[in-house]
Amino acid sequence: MKSKTHRLDRFISQNSDFSISDTRLLIAQKRIVLDGRVASSIQQKVGEFTQVVLDGQCLNDNKPVYIMLNKPRGVVSATKDPKHATVLDLIKHPQKSELHIVGRLDFNTTGLLLLTNDGAWSRKISLPETKLAKTYEVTLSKPLSDEYVVVFREGIYFAYENITTRPACLEILSDYTARLSLVEGKYHQVKRMFGFFQNQVLALHRVSVGSILLEGLEVGQSRALTIDELGCQTPAWQPCSLGRLG
Ligand code: URA
Repeated sequence: MKSKTHRLDRFISQNSDFSISDTRLLIAQKRIVLDGRVASSIQQKVGEFTQVVLDGQCLNDNKPVYIMLNKPRGVVSATKDPKHATVLDLIKHPQKSELHIVGRLDFNTTGLLLLTNDGAWSRKISLPETKLAKTYEVTLSKPLSDEYVVVFREGIYFAYENITTRPACLEILSDYTARLSLVEGKYHQVKRMFGFFQNQVLALHRVSVGSILLEGLEVGQSRALTIDELGCQTPAWQPCSLGRLG
């Protein structure tokens, strides 16, 4: 998602009857207000969500939207699909046509899905360098062993992309269930990691992204993120100790 940023004089020329060169005079006459402050330079940046007021008239009042959804099984993580219901069909929001998905989930994967119209935010969430843990609960077809914990922490080679997965944290909860935290999101990553052991994933459920927790949201329901959740760049992923829980 590209975020659209313009220089103030260019923005004014594209969104009013004034030209680029008129902007200097408009500024001197204090006729432009950006996010509640009188503009001071033609070089000021107008971002996607900067409120721009000229002579009391709003030229840009795009609001950023951040939504979490508890995705059900059998719904496509896409904005359009010719055959199946999409996650957007489950969202009721006046700006829903502007939203994109931050980190898709497979058709049968359930749980926490984030949607936004803020490209800069979704890029930050998705970049492995941000080290934001995406945590999944996984049910497997064969019993787990401590070897998985070591292999996942060391990384698995994916020949198709010619990469080794970043260190991932696996907590074995029972013989057939585990919690897995990753900082990246390669195609079918969780299934492919367990595929290394020929162990099929029977159920996959995302419970958190950073400090954003799914808790308390019914299947198919969505809500806006809170201010606290938007600061979710902390905590960063921490390597966990080897072994079983409990
Ligand atoms: N990894 C997968 O294999 N599937 C998902 O839906 C998410 C992560």
